[in-house]
Amino acid sequence: METIVTSIGGSVILSEDADVSFFNKLKTLLEKLTKNYKIYLVVGGGKTARTYIKLGRKLNFEEEFLDEMGIDVTRANAKLLTNIIGISNKEIPATTDEAKKIDKPIVVMGGTTPGHSTDMVGAELAEKTNASKFIIATNVDGVYDKDPNKYSDAKQIKEISIDELIKEHGTEWGTAGKNVVIDGPALQIIKRAKIPTFILNGKKLNQLERAITNQSFNGTIIRI
Ligand code: UTP
Repeated sequence: METIVTSIGGSVILSEDADVSFFNKLKTLLEKLTKNYKIYLVVGGGKTARTYIKLGRKLNFEEEFLDEMGIDVTRANAKLLTNIIGISNKEIPATTDEAKKIDKPIVVMGGTTPGHSTDMVGAELAEKTNASKFIIATNVDGVYDKDPNKYSDAKQIKEISIDELIKEHGTEWGTAGKNVVIDGPALQIIKRAKIPTFILNGKKLNQLERAITNQSFNGTIIRI
């Protein structure tokens, strides 16, 4: 069976407009997909994580501790999602190796260790499980030439090479709570493991389904 890893931004799971009907639709879609795919979902921390990190930074907490608070939020979001899905794991695995061992049609996890975001966890899991695709489901329609939440004239990029992304963003992790479409350490793994990677809007479930099932979709394809 084909394996798919999707990293879902915390902003997709816990946004102001994420209502019960969104969760019901997500659950129905995931159940349908399990007929043909084994699915791993890595959940991010979103605004809640950034709120903790921002406050902790003002209080002069160490960077590593800020990351750890972020990880705790991602794991709380993962717990919420796995309880909604029902046919997935109850306990949230602490590492990608643990996640790989779980024998469920859908496996949900959050962050692991300090120094990266859940994008990197997703990329690592995709490499370890030989996933055919890694999908980053965020709160915008893929990669843009500038932040679409700030600039109304930002242009969506349909395709971009991994080398171009690395040239622009590097492969280092900057600071806790850094809000980029995809983090540097994840880019390094995608390049190394040659993982087909797609970035799309996780709130648009039809686009998520289209990307998983090899149809054209509204988002960005990373050329490896
Ligand atoms: P996220 O993966 O949510 O970061 O982790 P993000 O880029 O803000 O993603 P969205 O908004 O959910 O899409 C939140 C924070 O938790 C720490 C980092 O500080 C990260 O910025 N974290 C997360 C880790 O240190 N390690 C992990 O494995 C995951």
